[in-house]
Amino acid sequence: MTAAATGAATVRPAAVTDRGALEAVIRSDATFRDDEVAVALELVDGGLAGSSDYLLRVAELDGAVVGYLCYGPTPMTARTFDLYWIVVAAAARGRGVAGTLVRAMEAELRDGGGGNVRIETSETDGYGAARRLYEKLGYPLAGTFPDFYGPGDALLVYYRTI
Ligand SMILES: CC(C)(COP(=O)(O)OP(=O)(O)OC[C@H]1O[C@@H](n2cnc3c(N)ncnc32)[C@H](O)[C@@H]1OP(=O)(O)O)[C@@H](O)C(=O)NCCC(=O)NCCS
Repeated sequence: MTAAATGAATVRPAAVTDRGALEAVIRSDATFRDDEVAVALELVDGGLAGSSDYLLRVAELDGAVVGYLCYGPTPMTARTFDLYWIVVAAAARGRGVAGTLVRAMEAELRDGGGGNVRIETSETDGYGAARRLYEKLGYPLAGTFPDFYGPGDALLVYYRTI
C-alpha cells in the first residue's frame, strides 16, 4: 500500500472554486441516472450559492477533492437534520473518506448542541455500499416504505440522535 493510500481524509466547508471538482466526483459514479446527477448538482449549487440551507462539506486526500457531503436543517423541525447526499469519487472509495465526512458532520452537530439525523436511501443494489456505510456508522434503520421509488424499490430511512 502506498503512503497516499493510507493518508486520512480532511474535511472542510466547500468553496465556489470546488464546483468543477464536485461535479467530477458526482460524474465518476457511472451508476447515477441523469436525474440523480441533476438533483446532486442542484444541491451543490444551492450550497455553494449560500442561498439555501444546504451545508456542503468536502473531503480532500493529498490536497485533491475526493468526496463531499450535503446536509442541512430539516424544515419545520427544532433540531433535526437531513443528510441529503454523500458521494466519494469512485477511485477513492474504501479508504474511509465517507466515514470521515459523516463523523465531521456529527462533530458540527454536537458543537451546536446535538440533534437528530435522518438519512433516506434506496433498497436497490446500487445503494448497497451506502446502506452498509450508515449501518457501520451506527445509524439504525427506522423505517421502510415499500415501492416508494418504484416497484420493488423501497425508501429506507435511517435515523439517529447525535
Ligand atoms: C457510499 C459511499 C459514499 C461510501 O464511500 P467510501 O468512502 O468508500 O466509504 P468508507 O470507506 O468510509 O466506508 C465506511 C464503511 O462503510 C461500509 N462500506 C462502504 N462501502 C462499502 C462497500 N462497497 N461494500 C461494503 N461495505 C461498504 C463499510 O462498513 C466501511 O467500513 P470498513 O471499510 O471498515 O468495513 C460511496 O460508495 C459512494 O459514493 N457511493 C455512490 C454514492 C451513494 O450511493 N451515495 C449515497 C446516496 S444515499
